[in-house]
Amino acid sequence: MKYRIAWMKGDGIGPEISDAALEVLNSIQESFQISFEVNFYDLGDSSKVKRGSALPDDTLNGIRLSDAAIKGPVGESAFESIVAIRQKLDLYANIRPARSYEGLPNAGKIDVIIVRENTEDLYKGIEFEVEGVAASLRIISEKATRRIARVAASYALKRKKHVTVVHKANVLRVSDGLFRRVALEELGKYDLAVDEKYVDAMSMALIRNPSDFDVILTPNVYGDILSDEASQIAGGLGFAASANIGDSNALFEPVHGSAPDIAGKGIANPYSMIMCISMMLNHLGISRSDNIALSASEALSSVVEKSIKDGIITPDAGGRLKTFEVGKEIAKRVKELAQAK
Ligand code: NAI
Ligand code: MG
Repeated sequence: MKYRIAWMKGDGIGPEISDAALEVLNSIQESFQISFEVNFYDLGDSSKVKRGSALPDDTLNGIRLSDAAIKGPVGESAFESIVAIRQKLDLYANIRPARSYEGLPNAGKIDVIIVRENTEDLYKGIEFEVEGVAASLRIISEKATRRIARVAASYALKRKKHVTVVHKANVLRVSDGLFRRVALEELGKYDLAVDEKYVDAMSMALIRNPSDFDVILTPNVYGDILSDEASQIAGGLGFAASANIGDSNALFEPVHGSAPDIAGKGIANPYSMIMCISMMLNHLGISRSDNIALSASEALSSVVEKSIKDGIITPDAGGRLKTFEVGKEIAKRVKELAQAK
């Protein structure tokens, strides 16, 4: 099958890890009966400088009209670019897996999927300041909570049938109270083990006993914070990919930001972006009933797993390779694996 992909390289390390991931995308195209029309669009701080907007109309339309989109991290314009895309295209489910890989130092064995509501909460961006007092409105709706709970249930049913609902309903009694009530009500309709945790206790429990958790359902802000924590437990932010999924569009991106402290040095970890390709192929495989995309996704994941074990890693994870060297090696291994089959 042929897919139209919208690609935004983003800021900081975005272009470097994009180039490594594009090499891998090409190797998938050469190795499997699948092809991509990749169209590049501006997004983020660099777009704001060049085009006067962090999210130009053609970028938003390009994503809207594509089969899937991949973006690199953006910088300080995150609210105007990625948060705006999530809201405008109603990409309401943010799926953030964290799984420890063999060969990486980790803070405990972890294999979780954080299912984060992606369109409301404090990130709705309703803020104002009056005479030295700033206020932010937190929006939590029944509709958004119910649909994200259904997404969590669908992942849990395919895994260990266990969902942990994270909230702070003892203090935020109305907003988190609604999230808790509606999520528990919705999850109760499925054959699942459901428990709940206050977000502060959750941040501790995730480190103390990561293997207690499987699918973790959160409102927007808690999911943002806990997913960085979970990815560090697994081995580092540089390995963490994520999906933003709505009813009509899907966008894949690293969990991390533009890492300005290492940008331009050629040492950024590209696995986060490479794993975005695997997540995208899995999504296309399921949503388009495309078994080739599914097997390409599995092949890429297994190549990544084996390569990490073999020490094909950048300095952030204790390795010595450059970003482009990791990309080249993964691309080569994908081809070899496909030829061996
Ligand atoms: P960050 O995630 O960019 O970096 C945190 C730390 O992790 C840094 O030490 C960085 O070097 C390291 N790191 C992150 N990704 C890495 C990779 N692939 N390889 C090796 N090391 C990596 O978070 P920070 O510094 O708070 O934010 C930087 C910028 O990113 C900000 O302007 C922020 O707004 C933006 N941001 C954008 C996001 C997005 O596009 N979705 C998400 C988070 C932050
Ligand atoms: Mg974040």
